[in-house]
Amino acid sequence: MTDSPSSKTAADSSTDTSFAGQVVLINGATGALGTAIAQTLAARGATLILLGRKLDQLDRLADDINQRVLPELPAASRGEPPLIQPVDFSGAAPEDYATLVEGIEQAFGRLDLLVHAMGTAGELAPLAQADLMKFQESLHVNLTAPFALSRSAWPLLEQSERPRVLFFTDRGTEAFGNAHDIAHAGVERMIRQWAAETPQVWITGFDPGAVNSRLRHTRFPGERSEDRQPPCAVMPAVLDWLENGESGAICRQETPNAAL
Ligand SMILES: NC(=O)c1ccc[n+]([C@@H]2O[C@H](COP(=O)([O-])OP(=O)(O)OC[C@H]3O[C@@H](n4cnc5c(N)ncnc54)[C@H](OP(=O)(O)O)[C@@H]3O)[C@@H](O)[C@H]2O)c1
Repeated sequence: MTDSPSSKTAADSSTDTSFAGQVVLINGATGALGTAIAQTLAARGATLILLGRKLDQLDRLADDINQRVLPELPAASRGEPPLIQPVDFSGAAPEDYATLVEGIEQAFGRLDLLVHAMGTAGELAPLAQADLMKFQESLHVNLTAPFALSRSAWPLLEQSERPRVLFFTDRGTEAFGNAHDIAHAGVERMIRQWAAETPQVWITGFDPGAVNSRLRHTRFPGERSEDRQPPCAVMPAVLDWLENGESGAICRQETPNAAL
């Protein structure tokens, strides 16, 4: 369900090289929103580190950026070819997060932007019937792992002149969101807490509304895909938020015909 926007349609990048020289880590880069933000930021000059579970999909995304996106940029504002790192956070140990970040430190010495676009829908069962193992797994992938990655990356972010962290967040549903929605409520709280504790790092959430993706289809199987937005359609608002959003805040987009 991931669409493949031209670098010029995600938002017109022909004169925008605002991410030139920026080092950006994208977690969940093989997903719908992760791929769209990777293409959008590469088209504006960012050097990307792409994390995802599947090596073949990471390779395809890196090839697309190398062959289609980077050549459209003037050489002076072009980022380096993306680095890819396959990783499954389901079973990650504390030292795995540190090892990942050490590699970035050796290559770049700093991190300017960390984007969290990783997530899993998990179960949709009511809480009274929730499977405990699946509940824990969903809380881990949707909340604990993004926290642990951010925590390990924090010292590298603090080396940046303008450190930023962006989470794709979800407002959730009143019922049947199971651990996914509880995790996202926790992510929103974590963003506020982190922003209050360390204001030198800009940290926010962007809730895109209904966007076509595997995760969205699992969560809302009855929703028509034409009532959702393609991921590239929300990129102009993401860019605006990255530039103008207030640290600690959540930007919520509406999708008029979607289930929620
Ligand atoms: N789509 C929406 O309408 C919407 C609305 C609000 C918020 N969000 C949030 O946006 C984020 C991205 O969602 P999306 O819609 O783009 O979903 P998606 O297309 O399903 O992408 C999810 C990404 O997370 C990765 N992932 C899942 N489990 C993982 C694990 N154990 N270890 C490492 N990577 C893992 C997936 O890797 P694979 O490619 O290997 O599966 C994929 O790259 C999620 O946090 C979601 O809750 C989405």
